[in-house]
Amino acid sequence: MHNIAVFGAGYIGLVTGACLAQLGHRVTVRDIQPRRVDALRRGEVPIYEPGLGELIAENWERLWFTLDAREALRAAEVAFICVDTPPTSSGDADLSRIWSVVEDLRGAPRLTTLVMKSTVPVGTGDQVRSALDAAGMAHVGYASNPEFTAEGTAIRDFLKPDRIVVGAADPAVSDLVAELHRGIDGPVQTVSVASAEMAKVASNALLATKVTFINEIAAVCEATGADVEEVAVVVGLDHRLGPHFLRAGVGYGGSCFPKDARALRATASNCGLPLPLLGAVIEINDLQARRAVARLKSQLGGLRGRRVALLGLTFKPDTDDMRQAPSAVIAARLLSEGATVTGWDPMAPQLTDNPWDLVERKDSVLAAVADCDAAVLVTEWPELKDVDWGKAAEVMGDPLLFDGRNLLDPAEQVRHGFTYMSVGRLTVRPD
Ligand code: UDX
Repeated sequence: MHNIAVFGAGYIGLVTGACLAQLGHRVTVRDIQPRRVDALRRGEVPIYEPGLGELIAENWERLWFTLDAREALRAAEVAFICVDTPPTSSGDADLSRIWSVVEDLRGAPRLTTLVMKSTVPVGTGDQVRSALDAAGMAHVGYASNPEFTAEGTAIRDFLKPDRIVVGAADPAVSDLVAELHRGIDGPVQTVSVASAEMAKVASNALLATKVTFINEIAAVCEATGADVEEVAVVVGLDHRLGPHFLRAGVGYGGSCFPKDARALRATASNCGLPLPLLGAVIEINDLQARRAVARLKSQLGGLRGRRVALLGLTFKPDTDDMRQAPSAVIAARLLSEGATVTGWDPMAPQLTDNPWDLVERKDSVLAAVADCDAAVLVTEWPELKDVDWGKAAEVMGDPLLFDGRNLLDPAEQVRHGFTYMSVGRLTVRPD
């Protein structure tokens, strides 16, 4: 068992810290936000991630939280960097938080290994290596160990991963990082530092491409009468393609896909490479939420003075994360067209990037849709399957439902009296 310092108490840092503690390590998580650290010390988890609170509680005697980098590093043999790398105005990742952690490592008495969990552009590992050497820390080994955890399923993804990627120049460092993961059910793939860095962004870019591809096919389905849900099932049955990430919708969002796709494009641009395929993915996805509003506008014959309910605001279910959520684009577009917008989300009180400045908050789906001209299902929260849609149709005037995630059964919604629009399927109406 090892003493570990984790830098960053966001989604990745907390999941990493709690899971490493679950594997038996002693983990001190360091963050620079006093309120966050205070809350964690009281046993409160500042983000919503299913199972995280329970995992932290279960491993309380092996987990510490601090503001002080020295305290985090007092006993640590290994430090994990789990800080965020947000986009800059050029699309390149902002690595300032990473460099600040590297600075903090100076003088760490027992540190032997630095592990990069944060998503960084290819080549960052080399730069960190040089910085460590220049700071008299040539003895500290370096590994890239990218995360492939999705919000909502992060703990399962960490403890039962498809692969554990370890990128290191020194086999002893790879061995140590692999050993830290002992107890996890998943294959370790050892590669170079640059390959590990590239594999992370390439995986996210390919997943984003898959989603975007099915969204493009969906648009053609709408124009031709094919049903994208049926098409996706058939395509996904080919084992070379697989069934995942073929759900058409109002576009991908979140803290990773949009940022990582742009960062990869920036990295390539910096090498003089244009990456037209990835560029198209980014552009098509940017259009996807706007296209939904355009379809709604055309169906309603204009949006000025209309009242529209947005159902589900987070970028996907089982998270409180609003980063790059399609709902924000849809709300802003509706407002700029002169509509009034109400909204419902099960995470209402703790949503990040508070959307309630734009959207009138309602505490139930029925309250949100009451007297609305249209309801738009933006995020496929499972609760939306259990709504009394017959009642919802009643409290709306001439009920129109735009199912932006193809969550509901078209025939059933028509029976309730809805005109039912969805993505990649023909619009259906009551007789
Ligand atoms: C993603 C990666 O899955 C994860 O490996 C990486 O570490 C971080 O980025 P996350 O952003 O949490 O995780 O969510 P994910 O479930 O992958 O969904 C990303 C976006 O794509 C969401 O907006 C989701 O709604 C959308 N999506 C996903 C679709 O529109 N259709 C699909 O079929 C799948």
